[in-house]
Amino acid sequence: MIIKSATFICSSADFKQCPNSTFFEFAFIGRSNVGKSTLINYLTNKKKLAKTSSTPGKTQLINHFSINDSWYLVDLPGYGYAKTSKKNREQLKHIVVDYLVNRKNLKLTFVLLDSRRELQKIDLEFINWMGINELPFYIILTKIDKISKAELNQNIVSIKDKLLEHWIKLPPIFISSSSKKIGRKEILASIKKTLESL
Ligand code: GTP
Ligand code: MG
Repeated sequence: MIIKSATFICSSADFKQCPNSTFFEFAFIGRSNVGKSTLINYLTNKKKLAKTSSTPGKTQLINHFSINDSWYLVDLPGYGYAKTSKKNREQLKHIVVDYLVNRKNLKLTFVLLDSRRELQKIDLEFINWMGINELPFYIILTKIDKISKAELNQNIVSIKDKLLEHWIKLPPIFISSSSKKIGRKEILASIKKTLESL
């Protein structure tokens, strides 16, 4: 998959405000600060396309980016940021859940997990919710530059084991580092394959 162009289209506070288009789209979700916006910038090779921050809770809206004028990447607000108000958390959850359930253009969601940690309760709950709602997703383990290979392998086993307590079959699991530039080819290939299958 060659990315020839990547353009910001709009930020929407609700799935009903999302672009009225026939483009298929791919969304990125995960705990706040896991690296969703940074990954979109890495995938598109545009450092400032999606807004990133070292402080959690940066992305608060549904952000559409047009790729090659033919499909969208979508940056979503993260879940589970404890330091924001309960009202804000509920509002963000509502935006994301409504979008994931109702957006017809959405063909695949990438659920990002921090490769440094065991599977967190909130991530498991979210993944199981995707399953109950029959929403297709792949998993990406982010920030692998921050741990050793041995730790990474250990965490992959632990995450898979925990998921297998709830799932019979696991989705594809990718690893990524936006700073060390790892994972782009594989993630883009999976998007290409999905687009070709539609
Ligand atoms: P919200 O919008 O708040 O939900 O967060 P987000 O998931 O979009 O995270 P964001 O991309 O803003 O990144 C959060 C922080 O993690 C930033 O300081 C990034 O520089 C850092 N970060 C993201 N990806 C990587 C990575 O692969 N490696 C390292 N070392 N840092 C990363
Ligand atoms: Mg973000």
